[in-house]
Amino acid sequence: MAKGRKNGLYEGVSEELSRLMRTGWADSERRGTEPAEQAPYAAARRAALSARFPGERLVIPSGNLKTRSNDDTYPFRPYTGYVHMTGDQARDGALVLEPRADGGHDAYCYQLPRDSRENDEFWIGYTAELWMGRRRTLAESEILLGLPCRDVRGAAADLAAVTGVPTRIVRGHDPALEAAVGTDEDRDDELEEALSELRLVKDAWELGEMRKAVDSTVRGFTDCVGELSRAVASSERWIEGTFFRRARLEGNAVGYGSICAAGEHATIMHWTDNDGPVRPGELLLLDAGVETHSLYTADVTRTLPISGTFTPVQRQVYDAVYEAQEAGMAAVKPGAPYRDFHEASQRHLTARLVEWGFIEGPVDRAYALGLQRRFTMAGTGHMLGLDVHDCAQARTAEYVDGVLEPGMVLTVEPGLYFQPDDLTVPEEWRGIGVRIEDDLVVTEDGHENLSAGLPRSSSEVEAWMAEFAG
Ligand code: GLY
Ligand code: MN
Ligand code: MN
Repeated sequence: MAKGRKNGLYEGVSEELSRLMRTGWADSERRGTEPAEQAPYAAARRAALSARFPGERLVIPSGNLKTRSNDDTYPFRPYTGYVHMTGDQARDGALVLEPRADGGHDAYCYQLPRDSRENDEFWIGYTAELWMGRRRTLAESEILLGLPCRDVRGAAADLAAVTGVPTRIVRGHDPALEAAVGTDEDRDDELEEALSELRLVKDAWELGEMRKAVDSTVRGFTDCVGELSRAVASSERWIEGTFFRRARLEGNAVGYGSICAAGEHATIMHWTDNDGPVRPGELLLLDAGVETHSLYTADVTRTLPISGTFTPVQRQVYDAVYEAQEAGMAAVKPGAPYRDFHEASQRHLTARLVEWGFIEGPVDRAYALGLQRRFTMAGTGHMLGLDVHDCAQARTAEYVDGVLEPGMVLTVEPGLYFQPDDLTVPEEWRGIGVRIEDDLVVTEDGHENLSAGLPRSSSEVEAWMAEFAG
């Protein structure tokens, strides 16, 4: 008898059960598998990566399941660089680019194939297919991904066997493969930088996915407006659940923890507890994004007056943020230094804060000293794509010190946050937080606001709520 797991209710497996389980299964090969629409785009991305590292072997793992407790695992999230270079989302995989003498590479992909039905693993192991769902055969993966595929269970031995080929691996995703290749940390970091930089400009397929993510997000925001009265009767969690339902129905999930921040919670940049009350007269800051089935995410924020209309002070703050966003968006165009949109927005907010007497002018001095940061907190935006803060490992010269190019997608998200215990502002300003965040793609002659389907100015927001608020 095979041994059962600790505290399992079955003590073992009899020989006869084992024989019974191994027999009587139909052929379930999926013969209609088609190449993924994304496959040629992923091939072009691999060619760009190959050109950066002639003569070197590159290993890009997808990552492993992480245990939450016992036989429960966290939802699997494949490493972003692997998804980008393959279009695949399978766990325990790895893309390998094997160098050729001509300076190019041959690509192949390690995959965890289907479980054999010739031993008990396929039905006993908790990560087995019978428990977690069917995987692809190697033949299916080859067609889908347009890549030769090999059984990952031989990967560590294969990689360890070939010596004398300079190798880099992306670290932090697959300890067994890392141990097998035994590489150098600094050189490995350069591979991760390159993978981040190759995502700075999105290809046509990716831009289509970004549009889907934003369009679903727009619908999710409208859902939330329609559910406001229920949120007032319940809590911020009602908003979180409402948006999540849209994200799960139309996409994979939310692209990051939704920030459903009513009242003074709006002054907390990463408020994701979402367990507070939703009170008429206060503002609701909703920062949320749907992630598509292909794992591209939107990142949008609207700040709504819960009662439907802004108070005079709320409107004063809101309009300042709106104008700062307009100034920032005007700076998003090809050839512009990346930092311009941030500086344009921040300067505008600095001017308002000086005008209101909250920081000491003149504006140039206050801005040079960064005094506005007490109330603006964060940078004005970031690249967006497969990760909400996409391309984060890119070299500074290529990202924040770089120049905007057509196909880049970024957020413009100025905000003002007056903490509830800030004695430097009048009492009625305390606890007000406003952010407006849109997702822009740089075009040949400027930009397109992908999230323009959502109202933005204070009067548009009020009209929207008058129409949809439930
Ligand atoms: N939702 C995270 C951000 O806006 O950057
Ligand atoms: Mn953002
Ligand atoms: Mn956001």
